[in-house]
Amino acid sequence: MNLGEVFAEPLVRLDADDPALAGIRTPRSALGAVKSGVTAQFLERADEYHRNYLNLDYWRFLLERAFQAIGEMHDPSLIIDIGSGSGNSVIPLADRFPRANIVATDISPQLLAILRDFLNKRDDSKQGEGREERFALVCVDAAGANYLPGIADLAVGAAILHHILDPAKVLASCHRALKPGGWAIFFEPFEAGNAIVRMTYERILARASASEAETDALRLLQRMVADYTVRQRAKADPVFLGLDDKWMFTRTYFERIRDEQGWAELRTYALNVCPTMLRNQAEVHLKLGAQLPPSALPDWAWAIIDQTDAAISDDLRQEWAQEAAVMFRKAALA
Ligand SMILES: C[S@@+](CC[C@H](N)C(=O)[O-])C[C@H]1O[C@@H](n2cnc3c(N)ncnc32)[C@H](O)[C@@H]1O
Repeated sequence: MNLGEVFAEPLVRLDADDPALAGIRTPRSALGAVKSGVTAQFLERADEYHRNYLNLDYWRFLLERAFQAIGEMHDPSLIIDIGSGSGNSVIPLADRFPRANIVATDISPQLLAILRDFLNKRDDSKQGEGREERFALVCVDAAGANYLPGIADLAVGAAILHHILDPAKVLASCHRALKPGGWAIFFEPFEAGNAIVRMTYERILARASASEAETDALRLLQRMVADYTVRQRAKADPVFLGLDDKWMFTRTYFERIRDEQGWAELRTYALNVCPTMLRNQAEVHLKLGAQLPPSALPDWAWAIIDQTDAAISDDLRQEWAQEAAVMFRKAALA
């Protein structure tokens, strides 16, 4: 693949300074730029992040559902993966569209290096008669990525927009890069479902005795509530420069972007709608947030969680998503 036909500015190799970054490029203007708004979790601690979060089957499933929701889609020849990390969406996309070239972009060279090692093991890392590279790895801030207009058939971002101070810039860059009729697909946390989680945790904390409040599990819930509270601040607040998770979205926010940027269509739907959604979420929070088993929370706390789960219908869970697919379509040519 010729990256000169993808980016509107020259790219340079990163291995001149660091041989561990062989095969990764960056726009010349980004060389040495400060990576603001991103923390060590994605940079210096990339290996740990990769170990904790690689889940190809889950992302394969989410992507398949998104393609079904779109309906007919022609085989893409160029896909841009935004915030690709170590490959949760790149690898399912590569399997699903064997003839597509894929540009994996991320602000973290360390995560891209992990992805490179994965891709190099694939038989199809080169394709076509001249056996050209099928995958390209580009270290770039998604909010400043400067693509040539109308070059991509599909853009995918798996859990990326909520990490960006101004996600509208990422969407504008996708709108420019896509061909007419092309889709940009994202998977993101939403505010409504998370507001229920937060209120449920607040109910538990209000009922906890002084000694229960000191346990690891209840302290975790306190941290979660504090984290939700911070994320409601205006994004100009400097606190977000030191926080990876910045946004929980609403459909209204994306509708505004659709109208301002002239996208032809916006579709959203909730992921993982099930009757025990709050219970499942609490188990994940305990495990990932503090390596705790479900038994770390007292039975009365689980009863509050289960009561809240039981009070919400699946239709309402669909409307009050915790996480949702967000799909924008660029207008086709008239
Ligand atoms: C939650 S991870 C998701 C990674 C991958 N898509 C996956 O599903 O595993 C978020 C990714 O966004 C990247 N990221 C954070 N801020 C970014 C930015 N401003 N521009 C590009 N990538 C960014 C991080 O390095 C990380 O790889």
